[in-house]
Amino acid sequence: MRKLIVANWKMHPVAVRQAVGLARASDTRGVVIAPPFPFLEVVGKVLRHAALGAQDIFWAARGAFTGEVSPTMLKAFGVRYVIIGHSERRALGETDTMVARKVTAALGAGLAVILCVGEPWDVRRKSFAAAKRFVVRQLRADLRGIGSSVVSRQSLVIAYEPVWAIGTGRADKPADAATMAQFIRKSLVVSRKLSVRVLYGGSVNTRNAHAFLARREIDGALVGGASLKPVEFKKIVEVAGKVARSHAAGH
Ligand code: PGA
Repeated sequence: MRKLIVANWKMHPVAVRQAVGLARASDTRGVVIAPPFPFLEVVGKVLRHAALGAQDIFWAARGAFTGEVSPTMLKAFGVRYVIIGHSERRALGETDTMVARKVTAALGAGLAVILCVGEPWDVRRKSFAAAKRFVVRQLRADLRGIGSSVVSRQSLVIAYEPVWAIGTGRADKPADAATMAQFIRKSLVVSRKLSVRVLYGGSVNTRNAHAFLARREIDGALVGGASLKPVEFKKIVEVAGKVARSHAAGH
């Protein structure tokens, strides 16, 4: 099974020329590239192999919503994936209710959703069981009303991103991330009959990518900082390809 590698550029780069260069360098099959909104069109034109992603979405189709961007608008630029509920957005005030509305709207518009969940350090510090409870609660709230009739394995991806691991250089332990990924997958099958892919995100780099991607429980990675460095990102994508080929060969 091919691993999915998502490049979350966040609010980078600042110039359109850099965005084009980065897109060209990262354009590989099995990759989703999520640039800032103003670069969606130009990046979409560059990509031949990778899929285009957005970093956020709004739930209404149109209307008096200053600063928001609708699913229809994103689709018009060739967007296929949308990241929803990233912890950096939640930190700015995005609630589970807002996340749930966005997930419903995106799926309804035929976009694939990459839903980010993950516990803060004060929860994980208590115990891994507490982290599991935190994540399950997020999933329950964020996927409110979502059932197997609107979701396929292609259309819903969960990114497990422990908040304390994002942008800190302190990645989770691959074994723990794998346990959490399997836990998320099973809990969605049991509670909603949903079959999803589960990615790991949080300080993924060239040194640790193999340890995460080699785990069968982990279907890919959501990469922030390292996705802005073409050489590093390419290496991570190569690792993903190698691991998938070796799994396919039964290793
Ligand atoms: P990071 O970001 O790779 O820089 O930790 C991951 C993310 O926020 O998706």
